[in-house]
Amino acid sequence: MIQLHGSGEKHRMHKTPPLVIILMLLILSSKASSRDNMLPNHLRLNSALTCRLVGGLTREQRTICHESPDAAAIAFEGLQLAVKECQHQFRWHRWNCSSLAVKSSNPHTSGIMKRGYRESSFLYALTAAGVAHSIARACAQGRLLSCGCDPLGYASHPRDRRANKWEWSGCSHNLAFGIEFSKKFLDAREQEDDLQSRINVHNNDAGRSILSSHMEVRCKCHGLSGSCQLRTCWRATPDFRVVASTIKRQYRKALIVAQEELNNGLSVLRGRPRGRRRSRARPAPKTSLLFFEKSPSFCEADPKTESAGTSGRVCRIGRTSRSGSCDLLCCGRGHALIRKSSIKPCNCTFHWCCRVDCQRCRDDKWVAVCK
Ligand SMILES: *[C@@H]1O[C@H](CO)[C@@H](O)[C@H](O)[C@H]1NC(C)=O
Ligand SMILES: *[C@@H]1O[C@H](CO)[C@@H](O)[C@H](O)[C@H]1NC(C)=O
Repeated sequence: MIQLHGSGEKHRMHKTPPLVIILMLLILSSKASSRDNMLPNHLRLNSALTCRLVGGLTREQRTICHESPDAAAIAFEGLQLAVKECQHQFRWHRWNCSSLAVKSSNPHTSGIMKRGYRESSFLYALTAAGVAHSIARACAQGRLLSCGCDPLGYASHPRDRRANKWEWSGCSHNLAFGIEFSKKFLDAREQEDDLQSRINVHNNDAGRSILSSHMEVRCKCHGLSGSCQLRTCWRATPDFRVVASTIKRQYRKALIVAQEELNNGLSVLRGRPRGRRRSRARPAPKTSLLFFEKSPSFCEADPKTESAGTSGRVCRIGRTSRSGSCDLLCCGRGHALIRKSSIKPCNCTFHWCCRVDCQRCRDDKWVAVCK
């Protein structure tokens, strides 16, 4: 074990943000709630509390939460995973997903998700994929009573099994159950038979399809001294970053639902590529994102979209086209250079065995921030 010691008094690197506390509460309560069905009534408090703590659930969602509190608790973890990924994917954008984290542990209460922006379509796909992802894994980890490993009895794989001497075995992540619960829990929000609800459900489905298409096959060798006479393989969900990056690419090519489609709700799932006026409307593939409202610039603070504006944002000097460039991020207001200092461990020395002593040094950097 290597320990890191600061010279002088210990210092905390950062304060624990409220989000982390909420997450910890959810995780703690979900651990407890997976046993809830076996517990006497008076001990079921935890799950009921989880269902009440999370704001912005619809009546249908609350019912599902009380019916399956353990799965709902995992679903909330999936939503938080999606918010975290959104912040990563949009870290250099004017709208950077930061408002979703502070407001509530339920991103669906955010102003953006009530709209039909390109950003909204991204969030619907990402949260639906996040819930399916978390549930699929939790099933395989034995955290849920209602599901286990995916039996995969039905699955086939393109490669010839005999030639490669491998068979399905081990514990596959239960994608089917994850997708089913994501549908049940999130599509339940979309009760209105209107255009916006149908677009939201389409985007939810797109996120889940993208997750499905990234499932991985992982294998293990068996046999004398690693001879790999037999390989057993199972299906696993990919790293969620990979799913989020693909959804981000779909965000860039998202299709706007044309005005005439808006008037004719029945053909809503036909979109048209942005900026190409002449091309005929054509059906949107399953993994396309759809939106119907032009996004605001997100340059100025606007409570309606919970946008903080870009003033004060750190930006990158250089090529204009680069994401996060000061030109794009600062909306033409220009930028200022400010000195940012931080304390970092430095001049570390290793002592046998096993300790590392570091000095603490000031690290001064000039950064550009938007005016
Ligand atoms: C996101 O934007 C907000 C508001 O402009 C800002 O306070 C925050 O630091 C930004 N987050 C990142 C990761 O850049
Ligand atoms: C590291 O230690 C050396 C000698 O002790 C000192 O001269 C140097 O300034 C230190 N480096 C930093 C970054 O403080």
